[in-house]
Amino acid sequence: MSLILLLHGPNLNLLGQREPDVYGHDTLADHVARTRAVATEFGCEVEDLQSNHEGELIEAVHAARGRWDAFIINPGAFTHSSWALHDALAAFDGIVVEVHLSNPDAREPWRRTSVVAPVATGSISGFGGVGYELAARAVAAKLQ
Ligand code: DQA
Repeated sequence: MSLILLLHGPNLNLLGQREPDVYGHDTLADHVARTRAVATEFGCEVEDLQSNHEGELIEAVHAARGRWDAFIINPGAFTHSSWALHDALAAFDGIVVEVHLSNPDAREPWRRTSVVAPVATGSISGFGGVGYELAARAVAAKLQ
């Protein structure tokens, strides 16, 4: 069975309450459940972690080395700033799918740079929660 770690960065614990016009009404738990449902169809197991702390996310990436097959990661605002997360993911051998609920390229200029994208296998943005389903499918396709 393939193992996927679903990682969420800062403020994503507030999904459902936070700027619903931008991020929708689904909660983080809803997104985790939909990711898991699709992943399970493809024989993958999903564990999830959300943290508001950069170091905790980096530790999770380190711990996954040699143990987990893939990350699906929505790094929140760390997408645009965390070279430390970039470096941690660069040292991970498996698949990395970057997901954003909104389309950062269509928002403020500072959101248009992702420091995670260069170390991701691929990125999915702007499709709301469907992005997580697409990400789970993409991981399964890559693993086959
Ligand atoms: C986000 C986009 C980021 O720019 C923002 O900081 C977030 C959420 C998204 O899912 O659309 O926290 O990653």
